Amino acid sequence: MSTPEDPVRFAAQRALDTYSGQPGNLLPILHAVQHELGCIPDEAVPVLSQALQLSRAEIHGVISFYPHFRTQAPAGVVLEMCRAESCQAMGAQSLIDHARQKLGCDFHENSADGKVTLEPVYCLGLCAQSPAVMVNGKPHARMTPAKLDRLLAEQGA
Ligand code: FES
Repeated sequence: MSTPEDPVRFAAQRALDTYSGQPGNLLPILHAVQHELGCIPDEAVPVLSQALQLSRAEIHGVISFYPHFRTQAPAGVVLEMCRAESCQAMGAQSLIDHARQKLGCDFHENSADGKVTLEPVYCLGLCAQSPAVMVNGKPHARMTPAKLDRLLAEQGA
């Protein structure tokens, strides 16, 4: 029996129990694990693999296919940058390049100093005010590299 002393196994088992016997239950199980732990750690994969009779590669494939899933716990500041069409047309790529360079990481990773998690997002509903980003769930429009630097500094990042 898993215990809270092994939080990854415990979270995986709880998700498995909740969605037991439901067809196509891998996605809700992954959502449940991430909701509980903040990410889907690599150690959860063998537990899910054995219980669901899926290969580890299949589960890793699903985790990596969906941008929402992360395998590292998020940092204190989560920066989501819009990559959808309107923002792309208004310079999102150079803004993203700036963020990658400043933070020393790519999407789905934490910054070199561990303070920021960089995530892609596909439209924040602010297309008329592109490019847009979201910081810890709060949207910010008409973003520029200088504004982004200020925004991150305000967050202590
Ligand atoms: S395309 Fe970026 S907010 Fe809609």
